Amino acid sequence: MFVVKTVREFNTWRIAKNNSIGFIPTLGALHDGHFSLIKASKSICDITVVSIFLNPTQFAPHEDLDAYPNTLDGDKKNLKQLGVDVLFLPSKNEMYKTVPDVRVPASVLFNKLEGKSRPHFFYGVTTIVSKLFNVIQPTHTFFGEKDAQQLRIIQEMIHKMNYSITLIPCPTMRDQNGLALSSRNQYLTSKEQKTATIIYQSLIKIKEGLNNAQSINHLKQQFKSAISTIPTMSVDYISIADSNSLDEVTKLENKQLLISTAVFLNHVRLIDNITYYPST
Ligand code: PAF
Repeated sequence: MFVVKTVREFNTWRIAKNNSIGFIPTLGALHDGHFSLIKASKSICDITVVSIFLNPTQFAPHEDLDAYPNTLDGDKKNLKQLGVDVLFLPSKNEMYKTVPDVRVPASVLFNKLEGKSRPHFFYGVTTIVSKLFNVIQPTHTFFGEKDAQQLRIIQEMIHKMNYSITLIPCPTMRDQNGLALSSRNQYLTSKEQKTATIIYQSLIKIKEGLNNAQSINHLKQQFKSAISTIPTMSVDYISIADSNSLDEVTKLENKQLLISTAVFLNHVRLIDNITYYPST
């Protein structure tokens, strides 16, 4: 595996390549969720590039940037084992030095769901992903469905900014009890990880309720009541929204819906979602 730390060095490598290049951007602290994206890229593309960059612009000052798990040595070993061709590992200076306040154009999607609790977040994500796309120039990119709003926003950005990149969504990876894999699960004890499976179970109950045409309000209340049975947990939001516009729906219509949530377990914020498909 070739490890590249500067844009100039990457450009020199990239110029000679006209094969398909699959790109997986990450913050590091890699787990099976990331590995599934890498495997998808390896199965489709000639070359797979992964970036590890703990992007400061997507974290607010009170969030966990400094505490974010750093497992670089283990990450590199895993990437080598998976047959990743290039690891792009830039410094903060490399990505932001010349244009520290650059931003991609905002979208109405930024302020919904996650954006209500984390208003800075999608400005930071789209800016860094756009910069990384410009450096890596991939033909394909792979994003997890666990971050459903991020996936939707990157899809919109690729379209609006005319990137010639095929976005491949990859299914959420879960542990044996159903907890969605996340780097933040490392903050949880194994007992807490088991407790947190109530999130997925409660999302499934909402989907079942929608299949039985139960009211959206009732199903959201039912979700909150279930989570409130665990004293260490609290709901940041529970949303049932149009999968495309991310607008909340108040009554069941014949369209695909994103059922998504953010829940705190003590101070750890966990997100998850599932999709409701209308019967045709
Ligand atoms: O999902 C993530 O890990 C990050 O938001 C991403 C896409 C790597 C941008 O920093």
